[in-house]
Amino acid sequence: MRRSPSYFRAKHREDAPSQSKPILVLEEVYKYFRRDVPTLRNVNLTVERGEFVFVTGPSGSGKSPLLQLVYRQHPVDGGRILFSGRDISRLTDASIPFLRRNLGIVFQDFKVVPHWTVYENIAVSLEILGTTAKLVRSRVADALERVGLAGRGNERTETLSGGEQQRVAIARAIVTEPALLLADEPTGNLDPQLAIDILTLFEEIHEAGTTVIFATHDHSLLQSSPHRLVVIDDGRLIEASQGLRAWSARMQHLGASHAS
Ligand SMILES: Nc1ncnc2c1ncn2[C@@H]1O[C@H](COP(=O)(O)OP(=O)(O)OP(=O)(O)O)[C@@H](O)[C@H]1O
Ligand SMILES: [Mg+2]
Repeated sequence: MRRSPSYFRAKHREDAPSQSKPILVLEEVYKYFRRDVPTLRNVNLTVERGEFVFVTGPSGSGKSPLLQLVYRQHPVDGGRILFSGRDISRLTDASIPFLRRNLGIVFQDFKVVPHWTVYENIAVSLEILGTTAKLVRSRVADALERVGLAGRGNERTETLSGGEQQRVAIARAIVTEPALLLADEPTGNLDPQLAIDILTLFEEIHEAGTTVIFATHDHSLLQSSPHRLVVIDDGRLIEASQGLRAWSARMQHLGASHAS
């Protein structure tokens, strides 16, 4: 496996100082997709190692852009983002893969390759890191077990149900044992019971030691689990743990006009 800079590796002994740092810090972050109106404005957020954080807010408020900045889909236009103490807004393009291999990302639309097998969809995360075939086999088997798909590796992914395909995507995201798992509306295409099942799976992954940031505007999920909650509203981020009920009422009101 190619070696990544020590500061990104989870278990390297030189990591000791960064292990004590928050896994993620956003400081006065701005993002402008249009010159006049910021999509994200003065966002401040600290996520400690081992946290589970819900990010919510109306459609169009900036949840996806926030996550996109963390995985460096786009650079910030103001402020900075520290991942394990390192400023990722200053990473060169060549260093972005080293960041990404320490992140797992799960999307609403699964983004699996339909005609590949379940195994191939998960193994690809390790193969691009140059992992040996033997290690790939054992790590993929472990990941399949963790997501409840043990023994299903040879099936073509398109023959699986939506909920199962999302489990494949989650296995692909965790098979590299990332320090931070980002999920952008991962239950948005699933019916309510499957949504709860997928949330439960993320909670199990969290309990096993992975930091999770989970963006959703599904109120039944937010209310089913007492995790830290931050709200993005018109590009501004607000800690809402203390005011979920007030936010819920407001969001339900907004939901009528922002349904998506
Ligand atoms: N790649 C982009 N290029 C240009 N504008 C963008 C881009 N990504 C996001 N935006 C702008 O940022 C706004 C907020 O993004 P987005 O709609 O993805 O937020 P969201 O909170 O994730 O919404 P949803 O709940 O619908 O997923 C968009 O309305 C759009 O104006
Ligand atoms: Mg979004």
